[in-house]
Amino acid sequence: MEKKQIKIYGDPVLRKKAYEINEITPEIKTLISDMTRIMLQAPGIGLAAPQVGVSKRLIIVTFGLDEDRPHPRPLINPEILWHSDQKEEMEEGCLSLPGITGDVARWTDLVVCATDSNGIRSEFDVHGITARIIQHEMDHLDGVLFIDRITLKRQDVIKRRLDRQQTKTQALV
Ligand code: CO
Repeated sequence: MEKKQIKIYGDPVLRKKAYEINEITPEIKTLISDMTRIMLQAPGIGLAAPQVGVSKRLIIVTFGLDEDRPHPRPLINPEILWHSDQKEEMEEGCLSLPGITGDVARWTDLVVCATDSNGIRSEFDVHGITARIIQHEMDHLDGVLFIDRITLKRQDVIKRRLDRQQTKTQALV
């Protein structure tokens, strides 16, 4: 099987809407362990399946960062059932956009529904950094990148820089 790698900005898979997962097959279980390994190696605190070239609704999220006991957890077909009115701004980065950061406003509290690797669907509350990671990763499932959520002026600067980087890479091929 082809070795999975993190897809970088410019790859069309990052702009596609990902498909629901209907069954937890051995292939999905392998994808979960591959993605968890890739995320930890990067290192990162979240990863969405489209970032490894798989257009499926699966994300890996690091829970417990604010309690100093980080542990990665797969969320399959995640949905936001409720969110707070309150948003908080914080600097974000993305493994698919190396070297780029920007302030993004995200809801501070969520009620999320997702399926685990045993096929069990449940609802749970998340707050702070965990809620932020979930919103960032769920955006990836709809082809949205954090640079789409920062101020337009800064988007301009970043997108121009990214286009330049892409042209340079293409010139090398
Ligand atoms: Co990302």
